Amino acid sequence: MWEIATRAHYGNEHFTIFPEALVSRIFKFATEKGDWVLDPFAGRGTTGIPCTYLGRNFTGIDLYEENVVRAQNNIAYAMSEIYKSNEK
Ligand SMILES: C[S@@+](CC[C@H](N)C(=O)[O-])C[C@H]1O[C@@H](n2cnc3c(N)ncnc32)[C@H](O)[C@@H]1O
Repeated sequence: MWEIATRAHYGNEHFTIFPEALVSRIFKFATEKGDWVLDPFAGRGTTGIPCTYLGRNFTGIDLYEENVVRAQNNIAYAMSEIYKSNEK
């Protein structure tokens, strides 16, 4: 059994956000660096963000454009964090 805390819901996000720590753990044993991950219900990018940090490629799909934009922004932020940490 895994015990991973859920995240608080913030006003502008949907209610079914799952913790990135959960997804990261699964990606680490189920995929390798450079693999592609497809999430056809990508929401705000909860699967795309850990993919970015773990060196996996990611394709996300969502019914709502606002979620796609939010996911793109969240993934871009993760990429900028990686870029900044590589600069140090
Ligand atoms: C469980 S939530 C996403 C969870 C996501 N991993 C997260 O934590 O943000 C399900 C998502 O599926 C999207 N969705 C629902 N029906 C869909 C459909 N027919 N095609 C594509 N996306 C859909 C919703 O807009 C919602 O963002």
